[in-house]
Amino acid sequence: MIRPLIAGNWKMNGVAGMLSVIEEVVNGLSERSDGADCLICPPATLLDRASRAARGSALKTGGQDCHAEPSGAHTGDISAEMIADAGGSYVILGHSERRADHNESSEMVASKAEAAARANLTPIICVGETLDEREAGQTLSVISGQIDNSIPETATDASFVVAYEPVWAIGTGKVATVEQVEEVHNAIRKQLVQRFGGSGSDVRILYGGSMKPGNAAELVSLENVNGGLIGGASLKASDFLSIYDAGISNL
Ligand code: PGA
Repeated sequence: MIRPLIAGNWKMNGVAGMLSVIEEVVNGLSERSDGADCLICPPATLLDRASRAARGSALKTGGQDCHAEPSGAHTGDISAEMIADAGGSYVILGHSERRADHNESSEMVASKAEAAARANLTPIICVGETLDEREAGQTLSVISGQIDNSIPETATDASFVVAYEPVWAIGTGKVATVEQVEEVHNAIRKQLVQRFGGSGSDVRILYGGSMKPGNAAELVSLENVNGGLIGGASLKASDFLSIYDAGISNL
């Protein structure tokens, strides 16, 4: 049984007042059984404070992106080492919003994943097809190409997480159907096992895209869905904790 990961992606949301959500989640986790890993990736400006608020608790924190280099003349970027220094232990990489807004290629994502490994962060490598790609019947080939090229060649084992996030389901309220999720997650699992052997069956594959308290239990009950990457619903502690509850309900 793979231990699920319930991960919140706050995106570009949150100023100091939102630290109360971190506190509520920390308190909520202390009252719950320990059945899943729980993570919040706040904006970089809050990471250090969020990590301090979560210290000693079951809640982990992480970044939403990192540069491939450890330091240097890269105005506006932050490195994997900086995320670790601010208390983070994970980093989201290759989110579709970064692929679209910042022209990030899978090859760039792979370099960032190497940087994450260098800084002892666990990368959450995101993949997902657009609506046009789905309608053109290209979903599985798009995902397979993204997986192939975004996981660094130097990766030797299951020390990363994959998140399948259909672009058309992100922030739209449209959730992929159980059949669509199963088809893609099963294909990702097969590809990981082909490439990494036994440890490919231990990689956590998260679903992301309008996951909410009302649909989380069904999604995480699927064989190759090992948790969720949650945007909008992670901004409210009660919703996020309900999704955590759904994540541990199958144990
Ligand atoms: P959403 O975002 O839950 O708001 O759809 C998910 C994500 O982009 O990670």
